Amino acid sequence: MTDFPDDFLWGSATAAHQVEGGNTNNDWWDFEHDPTSAAVESSGDGIDHFHRYSEDFALLSSLAHNAHRLSLEWSRIEPAPGEFSQAAIAHYRRVLTALRDEGLTAFVTLHHFTLPRWFAARGGWLAPDAAATFARYSARVAAELGELMPYVCTVNEPQMVALHGYLEGYHPPGIANPVLWKRVGGALFGAHFECVRAVRKEADSLTGLALQLPLLAPARDDEACHTLHELMQHEIVDRYLDGLTGPDRGDWLGVQYYRKQWVDPSSPTWFGLPPEGTPTTQMGWAVYPDGLRQMLHRAARTGLPLYVTENGIATTDDSERVAYLHSHLAAVAQALAEGVDVRGYLHWSAFDNFEWSEGYRPTFGLVAVDRNNDFTRHPKPSAHAFARVASTGGLDL
Ligand code: NOJ
Repeated sequence: MTDFPDDFLWGSATAAHQVEGGNTNNDWWDFEHDPTSAAVESSGDGIDHFHRYSEDFALLSSLAHNAHRLSLEWSRIEPAPGEFSQAAIAHYRRVLTALRDEGLTAFVTLHHFTLPRWFAARGGWLAPDAAATFARYSARVAAELGELMPYVCTVNEPQMVALHGYLEGYHPPGIANPVLWKRVGGALFGAHFECVRAVRKEADSLTGLALQLPLLAPARDDEACHTLHELMQHEIVDRYLDGLTGPDRGDWLGVQYYRKQWVDPSSPTWFGLPPEGTPTTQMGWAVYPDGLRQMLHRAARTGLPLYVTENGIATTDDSERVAYLHSHLAAVAQALAEGVDVRGYLHWSAFDNFEWSEGYRPTFGLVAVDRNNDFTRHPKPSAHAFARVASTGGLDL
């Protein structure tokens, strides 16, 4: 007996700025090179995926993946307002063709955290024409590459762009302002709907939004904790799931789950440390597999087909990754058995890569990369464990 249906999609995910290397024309590059920012190092060469995509896809295909999520770098495609680079579009055409030729179903994210420098300089998502500008880029990509993009992911984690960039200040633009935090969340959500409309005019791709859906809980049973928990639950989870209505909401929903978090007004970050004894990762995140099952149920209330578009662990001990994979895939299998319409699982991440402000220290990959020695790729035991599940549809790791 298998735990997953035959047509289940299995794969992993990356994002352009975290793997490509040399993304020098976006807001993140500037943030990484600003000594006053929270970023600890430059993304530099990434893992040189820009040049090695072909061997990378061949490797993932040999590891039994049948799907792959990646993002296009907007600042390469539109280096100046309204000026589109045919060379960059041709590059991504080669990338997506290589993916298809390796038998990997493409999930293509149009905005994964980075903004072209010119777009950020005009006010980023707070500029009045931000959504229209994003839609213009999305339409161009869909017109040029649509037949190579069966799945388009419009915006990656709008809530995290808003939270990290405008409340916690540890992503660009490094602001801490609750009013802007709420406003940017709304602007990004609006950009999703405009993007869906733009892509659908040009291509047959199935469109979806990717939300990070942590399991949130009050740190203590008192009024302050409950009040802040309600606010965070609204701004991070409910506002988006309940707002995904109407004809332009898209065709599917991406669920990205990593951890349980305890909301605590007495912490400067509004999130408390996990309770004593909770297993944590290199990021300090609490491992809590049943949260994935719970959040899949919560997401299922939208009525959209679901894909787990990210889930993973930063650890130097790969046996922890094997255990994390097992427990979280068991949570997905349980959700399926309970009737939730989950159609695929894309692990974060394919490769150890650039973890934003944390730099290269946290290692999320199924495959290690020797960044000091010609970027050689080394699949970890977890990559083989994952390949066994993907090829059998059963959970014996
Ligand atoms: C969410 C983001 O989409 C991805 O870019 C990041 O690396 C992972 N989570 C891990 O933090």
